[in-house]
Order: sequence, then C-alpha cells, then structure tokens
Amino acid sequence: MTVTRKDDHVRLAVAQHQTAQHDRRDHAQPGGSFDDVHFLHHALAGTDRNRVSLHTSFAGWTWPVPLYINAMTGGSRKTGEINRDLAIAARETGLAIATGSMSPYLKDPACADTYTPVRQQHPDGFVMANINANATPEQARRAVGLLNADALQIHLNTVQEVVMPEGDRSFDHWPAAIAAITQAVDVPVIVKEVGFGLSGRTVSQLADLGVAVADVAGRGGTDFARIENGRREHADYAYLDGWGLSTPAALLDARGAGMPLLASGGVRHPLDVARALALGARAVGASGPFLTTLVNDGLAALIDQLTTWLDQLTALMTILGAHTPAALAETDLHITGALREFCDQRQIPLPQPKEASR
Ligand code: FNR
Repeated sequence: MTVTRKDDHVRLAVAQHQTAQHDRRDHAQPGGSFDDVHFLHHALAGTDRNRVSLHTSFAGWTWPVPLYINAMTGGSRKTGEINRDLAIAARETGLAIATGSMSPYLKDPACADTYTPVRQQHPDGFVMANINANATPEQARRAVGLLNADALQIHLNTVQEVVMPEGDRSFDHWPAAIAAITQAVDVPVIVKEVGFGLSGRTVSQLADLGVAVADVAGRGGTDFARIENGRREHADYAYLDGWGLSTPAALLDARGAGMPLLASGGVRHPLDVARALALGARAVGASGPFLTTLVNDGLAALIDQLTTWLDQLTALMTILGAHTPAALAETDLHITGALREFCDQRQIPLPQPKEASR
C-alpha cells in the first residue's frame, strides 16, 4: 500500500503541475498569492552583480544559496531513483535537500536504500531527514542516523491525512510528540506543513515546543487535498479546494513569531523566490516544480533549471540593490489584492516604505 501511494503521489503531483499553468485560481482566493507581492521599482537602486552573494545564515547554519529541494519521496524503487537524481542536482548546484517522509523506512528497514542515496550523492551538502509527528523519539533518531542528517523535518498534514482514505484521524498528541522529538534528537528540528501553511499562532506554539525553524509550506502549489481526493472513490472532498494559508500570507502572519522562517509552497520562478525572501524567509524551497522537470525532462534539465533560477535570482538582487538574501527584506514592497485584505483583517502591518532605498 505504502509503495503504491508513494508512486501515486509522484504521478499525481506531476500531473497537477503540468496543468497548473492553465488552472491557477489562487490569485482570487482568500490570502491571495505571490502575484500580490510587488517590488517597487527604483531606477537607481541597482548594484554591481559581483557584489551580490547568495549565502544565507540562520539557526547557526550558513547555506551557499537560499534555495532547497523540499521533501518529497522514498520508499519504492522508483522513488529511490528520484531521490538519487534530486540529490545529484542539489550537489551540482549547492542546494540543501530534504528526503520525503521516512515512515516507510521506519516500518520496513529494507527500503533504507531508497533514502540513503541522498546522503551518498550529496556527501557535503545540507541534508534534512523527514518524519511525521506520530514518530517516536527513537524513530526520529533512526531517521536522522540513517542519513547523517543535518536537520530533522517534521511534517504537519492534518488536511492530507483526513482526505486520504487510509489516513490518520487523531492529531491531539502532536504537540507533546514534537516536544519529545526535539528533546531526543541531536540536530535542530524544522517543522513544516505540506502545502496548507503555518499560521503565526502555530509558529509561536512550535517555538514553545523547542522547534528551531518553521517552514511555512503554504498553499499555491502542490495541493494534497486534491491529490488525496483524487484517490477517493467518490472524490467527495472537492470543496476543500483553496483550504489553507497561501505562502505569502503565512510568511506575513508568522514573521515576528520568534523563529527563523523558511518558505515553500507555490514557488514558481526566481521572482517568487525573491518575493519570499523579501517577506522574511531565510531560504526558499520547492518540490513539485523540480520533480516535474526531473520526471518529464531528466536530470540534466533539472540541473539547468536550478542553475538558471540561481542566476536569475542574482540578477533580480542586482536590480534591487540587495547584496544578500537578507537585504531583500529591506526593499520597498507593495502588497495588493486578496493578500492585502488578509493583512487588513489580521491587523498585520503592511511593509512600510524604506528610507534607505528611496
Ligand atoms: C510532497 N511533500 C511532502 N512533504 C513532506 O514533508 N513529506 C513528504 O513525504 C512529502 N511528500 C511529497 C510528495 C510529492 C510528490 C510532492 C510533490 C510533495 C510536500 C512538499 O514538501 C511541499 O510542502 C509541497 O509540495 C508544496 O510545495 P510545492 O510542491 O508547491 O513546491
């Protein structure tokens, strides 16, 4: 069952991303989208490209680039090959990488070799193991140990589980379980959603539980309510379409909640990366877009895509006069549409004009 599900997820996510360009209703949905975030253009703000550095530092780490391949897969032969290729692409471009949920390995150690290629192919890279909040402290240690991981991601996915026919139905033990895992492992813990966003309230709670970093993983890209609904006999949860916080809304809601933030979910191109960094993310992740390139066009195409994204992010930072990813948070932003309404209703102060960049 697990093996079939992992292969299904890859197939359905790729199918979703192929139609996504023609099927974007996100802009009009509550909380808006990245398209509601605009950089105010200052024609004299530009800098020398040679002065732009992509290094980003947070939670005691320094990454060479503020981009990572986020959690996706493992557990079956096919997904093991995908993990290997994703790790090669991450190595060739300096990206950090997460494996998909390691629950299949924790249930059956025989599938360890569908995850270990991530570390083998990216020996010096920043590698994140991934588990759910049902894992025991001992299982969390095993997941980290298998990959000699630099950090442990715990994913929160109530919506996905409820829509998944064979999913979990009990979640009230998660806060205590997260606290126990943070105590048990000797690497920092990152908590992430799977595409429905983390609110400011959730991020504050996570800070109290000992979590080091929050990845808001918001709405706008891969939609697991739709994927799991498509696996139901009667697809009867279709009305959940649009559930969750968009990634920019989650960033605005959660900044100031006392934890370094990562952003993922619905990141389509280098401008979205710059937008997320400008809203306070320390690094930006994507899953579906990179998987789709790999599955449809192969490893060389993925390396090419990642190289282009980094090159164009540098170009955008040059236009904006931002010498580091953190400096993007000092640029002038203009927020419009449904994202602006979200800020008004949540009483989130809109980004103010910056004296320095006028
Ligand atoms: C995922 N995602 C995911 N997340 C997680 O924490 N553990 C997992 O096992 C998986 N599995 C998974 C499989 C596939 C095929 C995809 C595409 C995604 C969710 C992922 O990390 C991310 O939060 C969402 O996909 C939103 O980002 P994108 O796809 O919009 O960039």
